[in-house]
Amino acid sequence: RTARFTLDPAFAVGDVDPRLFGSFVEHLGRCVYTGIYEPGHPSADETGLRTDVLGLIRELGVTAVRYPGGNFVSGYKWEDSVGPADERPRRLDAAWHSTETNRFGLSEYIAFLRKIGPQAEPMMAVNLGTRGVEEALALQEYANHPSGTAWSDLRAAHGDKNPFGIRLWCLGNEMDGPWQTGHKTAEEYGRLAAETARAMRQIDPDLELVACGSSGQSMETFAAWEATVLAETYDLVDHISLHAYYEETDGDRDSFLASAVDMESFIENVVATCDHVGARLKSAKKINLSFDEWNVWYQSRPHPEAEESLRDWPEAPRLLEDNYTVTDAVVVGSLLIALLRHADRVAVACLAQLVNVIAPILTEPGGPAWRQTSFFPFAQASRYGRGRVLDVRVDSPAHETRKFGEVPLLHATAVRADDGTVTVFAVNRSQSESLPLEVALHGLELASVIEHSALADADPDARNTLAEPERVTPHGVGGTALQDGTLSAVLEPLSWNVIRLG
Ligand code: AHR
Repeated sequence: RTARFTLDPAFAVGDVDPRLFGSFVEHLGRCVYTGIYEPGHPSADETGLRTDVLGLIRELGVTAVRYPGGNFVSGYKWEDSVGPADERPRRLDAAWHSTETNRFGLSEYIAFLRKIGPQAEPMMAVNLGTRGVEEALALQEYANHPSGTAWSDLRAAHGDKNPFGIRLWCLGNEMDGPWQTGHKTAEEYGRLAAETARAMRQIDPDLELVACGSSGQSMETFAAWEATVLAETYDLVDHISLHAYYEETDGDRDSFLASAVDMESFIENVVATCDHVGARLKSAKKINLSFDEWNVWYQSRPHPEAEESLRDWPEAPRLLEDNYTVTDAVVVGSLLIALLRHADRVAVACLAQLVNVIAPILTEPGGPAWRQTSFFPFAQASRYGRGRVLDVRVDSPAHETRKFGEVPLLHATAVRADDGTVTVFAVNRSQSESLPLEVALHGLELASVIEHSALADADPDARNTLAEPERVTPHGVGGTALQDGTLSAVLEPLSWNVIRLG
């Protein structure tokens, strides 16, 4: 059977905020050290940044880059990370049982973003685990105040005369999680977040602030947490965060391929909770969503070597270095489709993380950097998914999954760019069958298919490795046609597809 939908510019979801294509750099494992920063590496620039990695990050098209954590931020003393690098203290990082050298810190993070290019925007988290209002204000003053105060003059003395201009701030990280240093109840966190937000806004009312939502839809406190936190912070914050990671378990690949069903319901449930609180407060304001951690992550796989090495508090150990398959990349593509389908409320989203740690880019210390399979859907979505998301309601053959019941085989969205071109992003969730697709185009002046690119492989477990870094790349698909206002294509089994029309 054929899957179908109709595109009409009169029916749109909303405009894509470029920050939907954000990412995340945490002081965790080798994300920073030997990931983005490795003095002495053959490609390192004068500041120690790996230019091979910078090139891949530019190609990936990331926008907002969240920093410095993650769980790390809940024990973070930002003052340790500024000033002369060789005078910075070494500290135990309780979150990841590692030693933090602080050789890379706040100033290096801002310099790193500037080297990526103007599209890269800082998204800084403050520590609301072990710290509070005072330290957040000090960091804000150090980072953003022009000059003439103790903290801003210290920044200048450290070599950064110009303020960093950080607009987007996270008020802590995963404070609902019992694993979090300084974990809090919703009431405790809601009050602290509100008071931190109020104080930060007293200095600068134009900041954009993100309150911590739940670490996952399956948390016992989910939804009640958001309602309690927002009751305290509704007028003081702009966004609430969502985090979600997916993996294949028990060989149940059909459910894994349908992970976006969970992501979409998570988004819709958080939107409903935000709007419920808004209604109770009789507020016209809408709270948006910051999906600031999402990805495939094989959390349930044991990593005994890593656990062993952590006993000695290593520097930059190999942690969470998942090597992604074609199947994982198709799921990442489907999660991107889920985010785009909710572009009216998801203003920020961060692929967690950027390099080495559950990341689209892998590196070897002293060696090469390469693209994981998941690199490709992200890069293509960031490049062609800018503009206005059109409303896509699919009529698709479906199949039964263990976790989600009946699920359509087609998962799709479409984005119309300012120049009138339209890109269809589509996933075929069937592991064995090709899926014919027909799209009726109404009110769109489109003459032809510019390109149909797909990521699929005879081996759905194929990966890009150090030995074979280009084993998996997207390929062109022939036979896709636009005739008499109808696009027709065939989607390979278990595939991510990008069809551009102009
Ligand atoms: O991204 C890895 C970790 O996942 C982050 O540190 C934490 O916020 C989440 O639990």
